[in-house]
Amino acid sequence: MKNIVVLVSGGGTNLQALLDAQGRGELTSGRIAAVVSSTPGAYALERAENAGVAGYVVDRKAYGSREAFTEALLAQLEALNADLIVLAGFLYILSPAFIDRYENRIINIHPALIPSFCGDGYYGLKVHEKALEYGVKLTGATVHFVSAEADAGPIILQKAVAIEEGDTPELLQRRVMEQAEWKLLPEAVRLFCQDRLRVEGRIVHITEA
Ligand code: GRF
Repeated sequence: MKNIVVLVSGGGTNLQALLDAQGRGELTSGRIAAVVSSTPGAYALERAENAGVAGYVVDRKAYGSREAFTEALLAQLEALNADLIVLAGFLYILSPAFIDRYENRIINIHPALIPSFCGDGYYGLKVHEKALEYGVKLTGATVHFVSAEADAGPIILQKAVAIEEGDTPELLQRRVMEQAEWKLLPEAVRLFCQDRLRVEGRIVHITEA
């Protein structure tokens, strides 16, 4: 059984998708050991509690620098014996030392088809605003391993979502979540826990069960 630790900062609908998948018995080789929030009072913590999963806070605002914050976060993750770290709406960029420590064991979900609409400044509704502004007809979501550069690590899964006439950033965000994010993230976690993701340079091979 792999210990999964989910890092959150906000509402946590992607965390909910993971908790629901676990509830349905779909995360066969892993279990969500804990949820760690960078924000006290984040609704994601309530979701964890409702599912009987331990919640912790490592408050970003209590630390002066990114280094001090990530050190505290690292200590928490070591204490929890994390095998897999899932960033589910986690707002902070992790330090290179953190990423090295957990190379190819940190998964992030991004609400666009990487390498489109990603990188510095592309988070939350901004991503969907930019996609609509550009006029693309397809967007989607990407689950990837985290590397030192934002949104640039090896891609695990992607799913396309159509843009519709009359879309607003809010409508599009919702559709991308429903049709892609909430499905892809539990699937990627399941594959990781079953040791079915083999990383070769930038390429992630998905092996047979
Ligand atoms: C999602 O759109 C995710 O792709 C992005 O942040 C958002 C988090 O939403 N990384 P939630 O907290 O999971 O509801």
